Amino acid sequence: MRTEIESLEKPKVFWPPVESMEWPESDRHLLSNLQPPDLPRHIAIIMDGNGRWARRHGMADRIRGHEAGIESVREIVRACGQLKIEALTLYAFSKENWRRPDHEVSALMRLLDCFLVQERAELMENGVKLETIGKISDLSPEVQATLAETKRLTAKNQGLRLVLALSYGARDEILRATREAASRAAKGELDPNQIDDAYFASLLDTARLPDPDLLIRTSGEVRISNFLLWQIAYAELYMTQVFWPDFRRANLLEALIEYKNRDRRFGRVNEPTIAPADRALEA
Ligand code: FPP
Repeated sequence: MRTEIESLEKPKVFWPPVESMEWPESDRHLLSNLQPPDLPRHIAIIMDGNGRWARRHGMADRIRGHEAGIESVREIVRACGQLKIEALTLYAFSKENWRRPDHEVSALMRLLDCFLVQERAELMENGVKLETIGKISDLSPEVQATLAETKRLTAKNQGLRLVLALSYGARDEILRATREAASRAAKGELDPNQIDDAYFASLLDTARLPDPDLLIRTSGEVRISNFLLWQIAYAELYMTQVFWPDFRRANLLEALIEYKNRDRRFGRVNEPTIAPADRALEA
């Protein structure tokens, strides 16, 4: 249940989004099931199934699947912006992905670099702010420079926060945060008893982001794969069979409708509380 304070803090959202008038009737029908308070603040996505998509389409090269996946990235970023979602985090390249064959790693880096340059105009037009999590220093100097420039250009944008997880691994992130806390404690700057949830979260790459409310994974795999392990403690999980290159706006809207129908309790109960003594009186 949303508190009054939470709803007061939310920016006013005009609904339905004007752009949705250009959507096909089927998508507008899906949208009619949703209202701004139903939407997650932060969506995280594990974009899986590019390789299988390529194979299913008779393509020998897995890279064709990654290329097709870019079109889904474009459409989902645009849709999240139009729906006034606050943040979208995409698992674009994990720490473990470095173990893929060299030509696939190079192709993924090339795609990322092209995307970051080609999308600049669209990101600016839609007020999208680019952010990253992960160990960015692992990336090549060229990709780091492209990233830095796209971040700089979009830094003042007030719309969707598009967070790319790059060379990201949740255990690595947690270890880096732990080392930082230990080092502050060793220098006498931090009393270990001060380390609570909020303090630890402030040392993570996601320090200034709300935790994801909804985690989507495409392609039918049912695992988390070292993604945002700390942050998804209370996220709703949505797994779909659809391969990432086929995941489009209608699939996102379906995920949002399912999310809306989930009963989020955060460990509490969502029934009116009746004290045991009153229950005895009622019986
Ligand atoms: C997993 O599919 C996907 C990836 C490891 C990379 C995702 C990258 C993109 C969608 C393109 C680049 C992204 C951006 C934001 C520019 P997989 O290859 O593991 O598929 P499989 O399980 O079917 O083999």
